[in-house]
Amino acid sequence: MIWPRDLFRRRKSQTPPTFEEYSLLAARARDRPGFLPETGPEIHSDLFRYLTEQRGRGAGIIEVGCFKGASSILFAYLCDKYGWPFYSLDITPEYLEYTRKLLHELGLGSGGRFFLGSLEKFGRETRLAERPALVFIDANHSYPEVVKDIRALYELNRRPHAVAFHDFSLRSSNPADGRIFVDRAIFDCFGNGVEYRRIGQQFGENPVPSAESPSPAGAYWERNGSEGVLIELDGRELSSP
Ligand SMILES: C[S@@+](CC[C@H](N)C(=O)[O-])C[C@H]1O[C@@H](n2cnc3c(N)ncnc32)[C@H](O)[C@@H]1O
Repeated sequence: MIWPRDLFRRRKSQTPPTFEEYSLLAARARDRPGFLPETGPEIHSDLFRYLTEQRGRGAGIIEVGCFKGASSILFAYLCDKYGWPFYSLDITPEYLEYTRKLLHELGLGSGGRFFLGSLEKFGRETRLAERPALVFIDANHSYPEVVKDIRALYELNRRPHAVAFHDFSLRSSNPADGRIFVDRAIFDCFGNGVEYRRIGQQFGENPVPSAESPSPAGAYWERNGSEGVLIELDGRELSSP
């Protein structure tokens, strides 16, 4: 699919983005019935800083797995400010619709595209006019699904400048969750020596929840883990699997 309006740069805002202005918008979302953030201020602030410092190295943001729109607020805010295209993906129509309405109520995402499906499907059906500044992957965290998302990055018609992954050091003791290994999938695809920035919450020797004391659903953080990571893709090819 070609989104005709993406062929023309949207008008960028007269005022630069500020984290304070974004935080006020994000605070308004908390009152919306059903709002449930799965990402928080630490990772949002790291992504805000990265994207505002990296201006010019890509245009546009693709978010994979919007859920109830907690990260979408940040991405739509920045895309509106910069006149960038914003693509929000989810495989669950209700979440996509929730996010679309939330952004609309906040006066954001007027140029947003809401795509039902995976990054793989998006890449097959969409022609990007410019290279995205960032793809944020926070979808299915099981090893084979993360591998699929990474491979799908390389099938896009424009190589994104950077990719960020949520739940890098997440684990689950619940067999129903499958093999939750975002970090292992990244190392297997990009190589063990891949350079990455740690973003979001940082965990020490005693993370909460921990392997010894997981959440009621069985989730926990690896010791000395990171909530997320960011990898720049320029000149970086995939190794395996
Ligand atoms: C952890 S939630 C995302 C949380 C959200 N980023 C936030 O900031 O609160 C994961 C979302 O990914 C969606 N999802 C699962 N598998 C997916 C896939 N293969 N492609 C796109 N979305 C997927 C789920 O429907 C769910 O809404």
